[in-house]
Amino acid sequence: MEALALEKKAQRNAELRERLMQLKKERNAIILAHFYQRPEIQEVADFIGDSFGLAQKAKTTDADVILFCGVHFMGESAKILNPNKTVIIPDERAGCPMADMVNVAGLRKLKAQHPNAKVVAYINTTADVKAETYICCTSSNAKQVIESIDSDEIIWVPDKNLGHYVSQFTDKKMIIWEGYCNTHDQLSVEDIMNMKREHPNALVVVHPECRPEVVQLADYVGSTTGILKYCRESSHKEFIIGTEDGTRYMLEKESPDKTFHFASKYLVCPNMKVNNLKKCVEALETMKPEIYVPKDVADAARDSLERMLAVAPA
Ligand code: 13P
Ligand code: SF4
Repeated sequence: MEALALEKKAQRNAELRERLMQLKKERNAIILAHFYQRPEIQEVADFIGDSFGLAQKAKTTDADVILFCGVHFMGESAKILNPNKTVIIPDERAGCPMADMVNVAGLRKLKAQHPNAKVVAYINTTADVKAETYICCTSSNAKQVIESIDSDEIIWVPDKNLGHYVSQFTDKKMIIWEGYCNTHDQLSVEDIMNMKREHPNALVVVHPECRPEVVQLADYVGSTTGILKYCRESSHKEFIIGTEDGTRYMLEKESPDKTFHFASKYLVCPNMKVNNLKKCVEALETMKPEIYVPKDVADAARDSLERMLAVAPA
């Protein structure tokens, strides 16, 4: 971008930030953002986190309005945990394709085939699927959630890669749905091997939504919060990152003396990137789009989210 265009953009963003702060005060709103959001959103957020941290924060905030910058299921979870608060999102098109890979009809069929199994749903699911679920989990507490359940048989939805990863740490029988994340599932062994050749001193750090053969090559596997913590606390200076590109903002902020090589240029979730600063301002101005979850669905889904929140990450 030319210098003049950059200057104009910076000026525009400064105006938007000022307006956002004003609206936040007027509405008594909190801005929650996932680590995959654009830097311009992470810069103004009151709290930035992984799915578990965001659900925890959503449950404990005393703000009247939650502006949730992430994808749809995250806003939905915040609403389910706070039925009396207003939850708005910057753009209702920010969905999660993986969450849409499992539906109620399909899950009910599987439950009928395995009547003794308890259902564990990754938090990346829609509210009506959560309502059919015994307990939710995130990538940060999936192992602990599995072990907390008093059943030897688990139906796991929807991420086959995370399901495969956690199945290595339990003796329970896991019936795993065939869903996946379009972004993480693209990362290949070849991508990692090429990066390792280019950067032989770098440690490989990946999200468990990556394929098993990619996860196998990693020095560390964890949620976005886990990845940030690992890189921050490591004495190593160079890392190959196997998660979404939005984490670059916080990785570089927390560890300015370290180098991060993203393992593929395709590690960008287009859904997360639908949100921007301008849409945040518009959402707080119009109080739209608002998240709505029918009461019967929310009440059933809340039980599975609350059970999850009682199981902390290790
Ligand atoms: P975490 O931030 O919980 O690791 O999840 C990643 C993700 O893909 C969210 O959609
Ligand atoms: Fe969904 Fe993957 Fe995007 Fe996360 S990164 S929101 S799992 S598509």
